[in-house]
Amino acid sequence: MMNSSPFPTPAKGLPLLGHLVPLLRDPLGFLARLPARGDLVQVRLGPLRALVVCDPDLTCDVLRDDRTFDKGGPVYERLREFAGNGLATCPYGDHRRQRRLLQPAFHPARLPGYARAAAARAAETTGSWQDGQILDVLAVLQELTVRITVDTLFSTTVPPDLLTQALSDLNTLVSGLTVRMATPPPMDRLPTLGNRRYHQARARLPRLLHRLVSERQAAGTDHGDLLSMLLTAQDPVPGPAEQRLTDTEVIDQIVTFFLGATETAASTLAWALHLLGQHPETERRLHAEVDAVLGGRPATHADLPRLELTGRILTETLRLWPSAWGVTRTCTADTHLDRYPVPAGTTIVYSPYLLHHRADLYPDPERFDPDRWAPENPRPPRREAYIPFGGGARKCIGERFVTSEMVLALATIATRWRLRPLPGTRVRPTIGGPTLNPSGLRMCAIARTTTGISSPANREKPQ
Ligand code: HEM
Repeated sequence: MMNSSPFPTPAKGLPLLGHLVPLLRDPLGFLARLPARGDLVQVRLGPLRALVVCDPDLTCDVLRDDRTFDKGGPVYERLREFAGNGLATCPYGDHRRQRRLLQPAFHPARLPGYARAAAARAAETTGSWQDGQILDVLAVLQELTVRITVDTLFSTTVPPDLLTQALSDLNTLVSGLTVRMATPPPMDRLPTLGNRRYHQARARLPRLLHRLVSERQAAGTDHGDLLSMLLTAQDPVPGPAEQRLTDTEVIDQIVTFFLGATETAASTLAWALHLLGQHPETERRLHAEVDAVLGGRPATHADLPRLELTGRILTETLRLWPSAWGVTRTCTADTHLDRYPVPAGTTIVYSPYLLHHRADLYPDPERFDPDRWAPENPRPPRREAYIPFGGGARKCIGERFVTSEMVLALATIATRWRLRPLPGTRVRPTIGGPTLNPSGLRMCAIARTTTGISSPANREKPQ
């Protein structure tokens, strides 16, 4: 795109860096200010020019036409370094076949089984907390969501040493992602400690996963988990491509599911607990709901329809703090958005965060208000303006699975615990790889009785 571009730009771009400094200093504030400039705003990040879509209808146009607005841009280029050509990163040409092969793993009939695994792990984790314990909330939830993903993906068949190494490598790759997105190619190969660790992990992880897949294939047992489904999935539509996933594709999908499933859910649950800590009245209503529905017993998939407020709290949390805060696309052909020509090769950014914080779409947008989503709200938010899971053909395949996982986890926590904010702690949104995390979130776990009334000892704990 040339400087004569018809698109508005944010103020104060620097000669070489463009808008990189304000974006890195305050990414969310930067994004939230863009709609005031126009529906399509051009930003400059070092050498990269990108078009940020600030309007819900134009965002829908981008999401619906996934052939023209294909996966690409800095986020996906870096993700492909280790998620290969998995479902989330593959281009349009490979997508439909992969989605057909993977969709059965997320069929509604399979959800109760996944929910059982999620509820059992949530009960185990929360059962190990001590009254008055200070929790590093995000870390605890990351461990929980990793365990749930491992259980659903591999049942319990992975040797512990292999699992520990694979998770550590994955962690190295994800945490290196933000830095690498901002590092131009020759610099990303310099022998710095960070780069060396990243490249080691990138080489080792596929080897570990190959071992896992070969062992499972040699055993030939169907464990009824996601890995068994990946290994046996068969494309119902005949065509020139393989009818089954190749071994490399299976490995790419495993990495993709880990990336998609763990950080996002942990961060959403952590934000929800933080928000509940700030809004005691909503927390009280949540406790009343879980007490009425569960009466102290563990939550199951069958309880989900009645855990209505629990669900709305998570819906509102995903509005305020959508893990996928900014997502890129590459334009594969000359096209138009609104009345503007958009040339092939243009990088497009869509941002759930930006849309979810527009005051014209959500009155008082910074207010945490789960009742926006109540069926009796006379002015419910517009469907196109709520996109925490993206949209169109590339919409999140794990949406239903993760929604039930998070509702069950939050209900399980609320049945037994109140999490109180620690005085003086400052929680800041931090961009951790592709997700938006609450950093510095430490809370005190206070045991509840099943009637929802704290014991006298508990009332003396920090508020
Ligand atoms: C709160 C949790 C989650 C959030 C906020 C979330 C968000 C998203 C978003 C925004 C996209 C679209 C990305 C784009 O447009 O480029 C997406 C796609 C995807 N997500 Fe999720 N996700 C979550 C959980 C999960 C889980 C649990 C899984 C797997 C079990 C998963 C697997 C995927 C995959 C494979 C795709 C690519 C789908 C395709 O291109 O066909 N996600 N997710």
